[in-house]
Amino acid sequence: MQLIAVDELREGMVLAQDVVSDAFVNIVTESTIVTQDIIDKLEKLDIEFVYVHSEMVTNDEVDFSESEPVFDNLEDEKALNYNFNKTVDKIKNIFNDLKFGVADIKAEMDGTLDPLLSGIITNNNILSSLRCMKYDDDYTLKHSVNVGLLAAMIGKWYGLNDHQVSELALAGTLHDVGKSKIPRYILNKPSELTAQEFGIAKQHVVYGYEILKESRGFSDEICEGVLYHHERFNGLGYPQAIKGQSIPLYARIIAIADVFDALTNDKVYRGKISPFLAADVIKSMSFEELDPQISNLFLKKIAEFYVGNKVLLSTGEEGEIIYLNKFSLTKPLVQIGEKFVDLSMKTDVKIKEVL
Ligand SMILES: [Fe+2]
Repeated sequence: MQLIAVDELREGMVLAQDVVSDAFVNIVTESTIVTQDIIDKLEKLDIEFVYVHSEMVTNDEVDFSESEPVFDNLEDEKALNYNFNKTVDKIKNIFNDLKFGVADIKAEMDGTLDPLLSGIITNNNILSSLRCMKYDDDYTLKHSVNVGLLAAMIGKWYGLNDHQVSELALAGTLHDVGKSKIPRYILNKPSELTAQEFGIAKQHVVYGYEILKESRGFSDEICEGVLYHHERFNGLGYPQAIKGQSIPLYARIIAIADVFDALTNDKVYRGKISPFLAADVIKSMSFEELDPQISNLFLKKIAEFYVGNKVLLSTGEEGEIIYLNKFSLTKPLVQIGEKFVDLSMKTDVKIKEVL
């Protein structure tokens, strides 16, 4: 571990300690891979020194070229959108093929996620990428790829190895593949499902598991990640109502990615909500339904990501997130012009939108 000046900090270095402000608020956590965004954020907040893993400072042999942000310029953004849409189209083909019989999912997905995943594995910044992805087709298709990428991101934050991260991406992307066997009128019904319709819809997890098992080439972990993604930590999920740690890890991670993406994207029957309001929902669910440890890690990383971002408050005012409140991550300190608003003290004011 070595203390270095922020102006000597380079992309690809790994922080060896949490970076905490004078007000004891966490700005960036230990083990975060440094990106240009993080360097800018630290400079903006007048942080002068940070601890990094020393081998990253002294080893000139280390090649950080792959740690470049995924989209530094328009070309990269275009490439990202191209790869995203290509992946969504693959999922569309799989869903269509499955309606008429069996799809060769393994062949269809082989290498498809790699260009998107390389960005996740070398760069913590998938959230801004997801915000840029544009796809005007079926919600389920876009949601599938988003969940795959978010699940992979959470897996990376959780400390899983690259093989596990890519398995999670695959399991997340295919988590709802069983919906190809559910009648469309149920999937697209804008009003609440009847008990009978809900019973049919719930079968998608079993269908998904069977489809992947029959396809061969998918590990048990991937198949079980799909089967159990609607299980809940308190044992009130489906299909088997298993609880706590007995729910496989991939499924616990996919559950969080699934809920977060569903809340932050427009759906047929509900408008999207801001990442902070979605994070509040994840937080409330973490007491009973979602894995509390993984949820907390997710909240911490999400909140950190948005420090420095412009936001629209429920009061109609625009401001900038300045500091995170360590004990209330979804309620940061926001600067509006000359004044500072501590959202943890103002329970009636929410972050309506991230600009
Ligand atoms: Fe599902």
